Amino acid sequence: MDRLFVALDVPKHIKSKFSEILYKLDSLKAKTVPLENIHLTLKFIGETNKLKEICDSLEEVKFRKFTVSVSTVGIFGSVFSPKVFWVGVEKNENLKLLAEEVEKSLLRVGIPKDNRPFSPHITLARFKVKPDPEKLEVILKEYNINFGVFEVEGFVLYRSELLQPNPRYQPLKLFPLT
Ligand code: 2AM
Repeated sequence: MDRLFVALDVPKHIKSKFSEILYKLDSLKAKTVPLENIHLTLKFIGETNKLKEICDSLEEVKFRKFTVSVSTVGIFGSVFSPKVFWVGVEKNENLKLLAEEVEKSLLRVGIPKDNRPFSPHITLARFKVKPDPEKLEVILKEYNINFGVFEVEGFVLYRSELLQPNPRYQPLKLFPLT
């Protein structure tokens, strides 16, 4: 079985701007994502034995390159009980459509659609212990900024291995946009 997901890589010129935030989140005892693991998930597939069919179906996705603007930070949960700290992306119809195309192609090989709507975000940290809410508020206010724009040239099928202290995300295949 393979634990799989489909994601966009975030280029270095954007990720480098996250270093300062990651440092601050570390000091709040959040479990930060290593820079090399940072990505934007289009679809989490989970455990499957259909790797070949999934690859073949994703090959059929035809989509034009487009740009994504990375902007603001936020949390899932509340400042009193945060779950995930993320960097956001500006509203983007192409991103939504690409995620839908990926989801449709996976449905063809029996991977069910998500019940929840696509909510694009780039996870920087997860909270296992509750941080000081005031310090978290400060970070949320300070980084309500734009981190830059990047062109989406393709999407990537990743295998995730749940290792300690961090998972290993192995890129299996890049699917270029046209
Ligand atoms: P996250 O960034 O919101 O944590 C690999 O695990 C990627 O798949 C992560 O980026 C994670 O999103 C996403 N994902 C979505 N649903 C998941 C789930 N049920 N279990 C693990 N990861 C999931």
